[in-house]
Amino acid sequence: MGQTTEHRIFICTSCKHNGSDCRPGVLLIKELRAAIHAAGAALADDFTISGVACMAGCKAPCTIGFQADKKTAYLFGDIEPTQDIDELVAFAKLYHSHVDGWFSGSLYPEKLRHHTLARVPSMILAADDRIVQ
Ligand code: FES
Repeated sequence: MGQTTEHRIFICTSCKHNGSDCRPGVLLIKELRAAIHAAGAALADDFTISGVACMAGCKAPCTIGFQADKKTAYLFGDIEPTQDIDELVAFAKLYHSHVDGWFSGSLYPEKLRHHTLARVPSMILAADDRIVQ
């Protein structure tokens, strides 16, 4: 049995739709949990999906972060709970399959490529020669 890495998805539950009191994060958690589960155990067993307070992307609601041990972390904004699920699952599969999570934006689903708020290298990557010292 292979060793698995815990992957985490954080979704802001404080974000409000622009010009509204609606907080889409809770719906996004529900929709994404169902979609990751439907994608199969190989993905679902390695991901936890949690709500979190503000991730400082408030001008681009709703925000979602991907994180795993020894992997680059990502933060995306302007995510719509009912429209962007397929792209998020595709990104989860890519992120899950990649050894360190540091990959070109050209590999992302298009919606996420245009709404990346941050890509933060892991501590291990920070010592790698791909990161300019
Ligand atoms: S309220 Fe969601 S990122 Fe700040």
